[in-house]
Amino acid sequence: MRKILLLFAHPILQKSRINSAMIDAVRNVEGLTTHNLYEEYPDFFIDVKREQQLLLEHDIIIWQHPFYWYSAPAILKEWFDLVLEHGFAYGSEGEALKGKMAMSVITTGGKKESYATGGLNSYPINQFLLPYEQSCNLCQMTYLPPFVVHGTHLLSERGIDLLKVDYLKLMALLKDKNIGLDEIDNTMFVNQYLNE
Ligand SMILES: Cc1cc2nc3c(=O)[nH]c(=O)nc-3n(C[C@H](O)[C@H](O)[C@H](O)COP(=O)(O)O)c2cc1C
Repeated sequence: MRKILLLFAHPILQKSRINSAMIDAVRNVEGLTTHNLYEEYPDFFIDVKREQQLLLEHDIIIWQHPFYWYSAPAILKEWFDLVLEHGFAYGSEGEALKGKMAMSVITTGGKKESYATGGLNSYPINQFLLPYEQSCNLCQMTYLPPFVVHGTHLLSERGIDLLKVDYLKLMALLKDKNIGLDEIDNTMFVNQYLNE
């Protein structure tokens, strides 16, 4: 079984409709560790050694967050800046993350069609995620296609229930060592693969 570290960043989880539902859905999945960055570090003083240790103990790292200003809530940037140190994550002697996999799970207010050339948000989602993709390249990790929930404001209760089912399916797929992940690497969003 692959071990999954679900790092999530939501500054007001009590007010979250979508991320909180998703996390509740998968919280008890065997082999998955949920790690709430705002709860762990309300003052932003990230325990770098502890975070690095957590990374070492898992095979797949998920960064889950609502999309805020085409990016992530601030603590996730702080986490990247401090935890992915030279000599640990990259550099001639930094190979601790080599061979691990990573994935973004994001929720956007914008609808799917708005993230396209000519749409309200002008660019496809994967262009906004390039810093994650290239950070993974630098750290010799494989960046899997993202799981993206679009149009969060329009999502009905039934839609959220279906989303929870999909999110559980995703975790089952990721943790099963007998399933190769090369195939999902060819999709734009992992959501597509789950519903094929
Ligand atoms: C500060 C802030 C910035 C946001 N920026 C974006 C954005 O750049 N693109 C987008 O599609 N939605 C944006 N949204 C909408 C959120 O992504 C959306 O409300 C969130 O994904 C819903 O998830 P939740 O119910 O877990 O909070 C923003 C919302 C806030 C509060």
